[in-house]
Amino acid sequence: MSVISTQLVDDLKGTALASIAGATSLEELDAKRVELLGKKGRFTSLLKELGSLEPESRKSFGALLNSVKSEIEGSLDARKSALGSESIQRRLETEWIDVTLPVQAPVVIASPGALHPLLTVQRDLEQIFHGLGFTVVDGPEMEREYYNFEALNIPNTHPARDMQDTFWTKDGNLLRTHTSTMQVRSLERMKPPLKIVAPGRVFRYERVDATHGHTFYQMEGMMVDRHVSVGHLIYFMKTLLREIFGSEQKIRLRPGYFPFVEPGFELDIWFQGRWLELLPCGLVHPKVLEFGGIDPAEWQGFAFGLGLSRLVMSRYQIHDIRHMDGGDLRFLRQFS
Ligand code: DAH
Repeated sequence: MSVISTQLVDDLKGTALASIAGATSLEELDAKRVELLGKKGRFTSLLKELGSLEPESRKSFGALLNSVKSEIEGSLDARKSALGSESIQRRLETEWIDVTLPVQAPVVIASPGALHPLLTVQRDLEQIFHGLGFTVVDGPEMEREYYNFEALNIPNTHPARDMQDTFWTKDGNLLRTHTSTMQVRSLERMKPPLKIVAPGRVFRYERVDATHGHTFYQMEGMMVDRHVSVGHLIYFMKTLLREIFGSEQKIRLRPGYFPFVEPGFELDIWFQGRWLELLPCGLVHPKVLEFGGIDPAEWQGFAFGLGLSRLVMSRYQIHDIRHMDGGDLRFLRQFS
């Protein structure tokens, strides 16, 4: 009796196909191929037994075994390509790179820098004035006595000089006491009509305390055109305050004395139930226009001096002006 039977072939085929289908990796599948079709494989040994069969059954079993063999081979190939694409799938899933992700940040040793609150406010204001057609101009901090005093109608003997004592160099120059220096400097450079703002650092010879610094910041503004009146001044100041505070502000003008404006005003705003002195301003004094080479019969202007440091301090509730240029990181980090 032959060891080969249809039942045996069927069983072998059944277990072979099931085990191929159950292979979960290409390595496992390869081991199964060897186990079935390798030299000593189960199927191979069955084939070998064909030789011992009667010619008749050899022929029919030969045909059967061949078809089962090609079925097993087909199944091995199919599983192989399935596992192949599965493994590609798996690799794609595990090894994928999302090129849209941000690159890993470099190791940061110190925290990145941030703008000083002064610069933040200065830039905000520059933007507001830029929108109103003003040019932002810059000028020297080390200044000639002429631009700081004389050209602003503050002659040598004028008492206003005492209020703005400053640091002098041996050759008679000084650290500017206000950004009003940019009035005549701008008139010389830019012929009217003109609208400028000049933010910058100023210096005073002061006894330093919480509200007085030897160094602080201002922003000067000036408009010179034909027929400029106090009405223009009020219009621009109200527009500026609306931009800064986000809503219409109640203001008042009080007379104020500054040698380089006539009339001169203190502009106050109604803030938290009281009047707050905010902006000194006025119409540019004819003498100042003349110092700038401009004919006051033809041109007029207004000017204002915004206390930038003061504005920053009230906006961020900073109670000591010395923090502003103290360089203390505990202070500065609050604005990063
Ligand atoms: N320069 C003056 C100061 O520092 C401020 C000032 C007052 C500027 C009136 C002006 C102005 O332009 O019109 O005290």
